[in-house]
Amino acid sequence: MSNWIRVCSQAELLPGEYKLVHDGDVPIAVFNIDGELYAIEDVCTHDGGELTGGEVRGHEVECPRHGERFDVRTGAALSAPAYEPTAKFPVKIENGSVFTRDDRWD
Ligand code: FES
Repeated sequence: MSNWIRVCSQAELLPGEYKLVHDGDVPIAVFNIDGELYAIEDVCTHDGGELTGGEVRGHEVECPRHGERFDVRTGAALSAPAYEPTAKFPVKIENGSVFTRDDRWD
């Protein structure tokens, strides 16, 4: 099991913001949507683009490259041109800090 990765303090990730961290080589984007935290791999399954920096509407983030939309709650791909989900990761808050990790290989 990989260790939890500290993202930032809770106060540094306010509603409407996101943070990018890495668990090893895996980029993880953590979003605060209306006070709820969600973590997905910062990789678009269409052509590997970064999702961070894309427009966020509701629970959807739009890939800045070709407009694919992903649900940050599940990683699901919601429109063409991508059809595969991006990975979703757990988030926890402990002692005022936000943590996530790549749990795919547990
Ligand atoms: S790389 Fe994201 S839509 Fe093409």
